[in-house]
Amino acid sequence: MSVVLVTGASRGIGRAIAVRFVREGCSVVACARGEAGLAELKADFPHVDCMPCDMRDGAAVDALARDVQARHGAVDLLVNNAGAYRPGQIASEDDDALLDMLQANLFGAYRLTKRVLPAMVARRSGMVLNVCSTASIAAYPNGGSYSIAKHALHGFSRNLREEMKPHGVRVVALLPGATLTASWEGVPLPPERLMRAEDVAEMAWAAWSMSARTVVEDIVMRPQRGDIGDADFGDVPA
Ligand SMILES: NC(=O)c1ccc[n+]([C@@H]2O[C@H](COP(=O)([O-])OP(=O)(O)OC[C@H]3O[C@@H](n4cnc5c(N)ncnc54)[C@H](OP(=O)(O)O)[C@@H]3O)[C@@H](O)[C@H]2O)c1
Repeated sequence: MSVVLVTGASRGIGRAIAVRFVREGCSVVACARGEAGLAELKADFPHVDCMPCDMRDGAAVDALARDVQARHGAVDLLVNNAGAYRPGQIASEDDDALLDMLQANLFGAYRLTKRVLPAMVARRSGMVLNVCSTASIAAYPNGGSYSIAKHALHGFSRNLREEMKPHGVRVVALLPGATLTASWEGVPLPPERLMRAEDVAEMAWAAWSMSARTVVEDIVMRPQRGDIGDADFGDVPA
């Protein structure tokens, strides 16, 4: 049974990915900071092993990697999904915004990956799937430090993929556009304007389930009508 570790799995895209792999019979380990969200996941899917962890805390990430591997053995698939969005513009955001966004979206993923890679390399198999964003490959007016951090996560994915080619480990970058999750709470948009988290999860499953001879390098997904823009809020003619 494949061991799948999903960070930020208590809601949104991470939860949808965790559930998708549970339905395929995988042994899923879910982490998030809040115990309430993890308890809800556990209530719905009792076989999921839930472990609280703040991915911004290096010691907590080390402990997570240690505990997961002690309880389940080597991780077959690591999904680095935990992240946070803080809109801003480089010229006007706080000076600490960049460090904040790098901590939330990059440093934990980098550290956790380094802790689970040795077992993947030793077994010559495994996958790291990083949930990046369309903001990893495009600039947006309110991208600011979030977009910088997501570009960095994509850069991490690409460099790791090159490093891992001789070792049989596949590295996938998943780049969703606007997806209906708590991140969009309060934004006055019809739900059908945004992608479903389940659709994003479907692509994670597709990347994982094809033969180990193939790596899906980048998966770019957008709402069918494209990125959310001013026209969605009636500021400019559609
Ligand atoms: N939704 C979108 O439109 C969209 C588009 C492109 C990319 N993404 C990316 O997709 C990922 C998931 O986004 P989402 O919209 O599903 O977010 P979400 O609904 O806010 O869920 C975020 C999940 O991550 C956990 N989390 C947040 N910070 C964490 C931390 N420091 N340590 C551990 N867990 C943490 C949250 O639980 P706790 O708060 O309890 O920790 C929650 O389970 C993010 O990396 C985001 O940047 C989202």
